Amino acid sequence: MAPMTRARALTEVPDDLTVRYYEQRASAGLIVTEGAPISQEGTGYLFTPGLYTDEQVAGWRRVTDAVRRRDGRIFAQLWHVGRASHVSLQADGAPPVSASAKASGDTAFAYQEDGTPGRVVASTPRALRADEIPRVAADFAAAAVNANAAGFHGVELHAATQYLFETFLNAEVNDRTDRYGGGNVADRIRFTLEVVDAVVEQLGADRVGIRLSPFSTVGSMPVDPKQEETYLALSRELAARDLAYVHYIDTSIFLPEDDGGALTRQVRALLHAVRQELGDTPLVLAGGLTQESATELIDSGLIDLAAFGRPYISNPDLVERFHGGVPLATPDPATFFGGDATGYVDYPVATEAVPVGSK
Ligand SMILES: Cc1cc2nc3c(=O)[nH]c(=O)nc-3n(C[C@H](O)[C@H](O)[C@H](O)COP(=O)(O)O)c2cc1C
Repeated sequence: MAPMTRARALTEVPDDLTVRYYEQRASAGLIVTEGAPISQEGTGYLFTPGLYTDEQVAGWRRVTDAVRRRDGRIFAQLWHVGRASHVSLQADGAPPVSASAKASGDTAFAYQEDGTPGRVVASTPRALRADEIPRVAADFAAAAVNANAAGFHGVELHAATQYLFETFLNAEVNDRTDRYGGGNVADRIRFTLEVVDAVVEQLGADRVGIRLSPFSTVGSMPVDPKQEETYLALSRELAARDLAYVHYIDTSIFLPEDDGGALTRQVRALLHAVRQELGDTPLVLAGGLTQESATELIDSGLIDLAAFGRPYISNPDLVERFHGGVPLATPDPATFFGGDATGYVDYPVATEAVPVGSK
């Protein structure tokens, strides 16, 4: 089950509905939770349950207990939104932080001028100083320790779709000239690797995954001609660290208009090269997959695991439906983000526990 923000945690603490939602989906081989902010600074959307207070850890503990009772496995997705935030969400109205001071022009979900929640233009960020980066890495490490205390099997670093890591990885956004600068590939990937190492030190490499989205323009990320070089070098370094998995997203589904499959072809071509670099590290892919296309990709040896996002919103028993050949229910995008139980925990189960492996 791919990570999906549902923005229903009114107090930023997982509640009864969160418990029920994940428990219903416990038969997924591995659940990756919605992005869980690692700090107030890392928050860009209201109602997203974080992993930096004792109350949040206690709330997530109830989620993992419920999933474990059903023999499920669950990783927390650790999230720092970087520049995709707004002053109304930051301590003392400070600007969000990023690799550079370049604004995305995109939106955050925060407080509007009249104090009500809504979509607002993300605030212009400030560039993190090099001497602040150990503190950010320590925030990630602390969230990983919290995830462990909350009973998670592991964590996935959200290094995809416009957020803090991508602002360092993207040479067009990263205009730094220090050792984290966009000018050469070793510097561009340094921030990501330092955070990976800080988190691995706490949990062990086999409990840490990472999510990446080369060629993504989600959040108005500019097209970066250096991406192949970046992601191949990063894959090589990640392989040396022997992580639980590396998780790629094909973000075509977020493109407003059909691009004729060009992005999918670009991602797949890169994945062939990534596969070589990764060696034995499991490769996960998400983005518009079906049971058929996922099976083909796994059988071809390109990927090891397939992740499903939207199908999991409306099919809590997706695995059993796949096994039983049961048609899938279609999710309603109107209830993807925010709101109550509707469109969250009220999608019915269609299969009465077809034992996995029986078909
Ligand atoms: C409602 C919604 C929320 C999402 N939130 C996240 C998120 O918090 N973190 C993340 O890495 N991806 C997020 N995604 C992307 C999904 O994980 C997934 O990659 C994407 O939906 C493509 O897979 P699919 O075609 O199977 O839905 C979200 C997608 C949706 C539809």
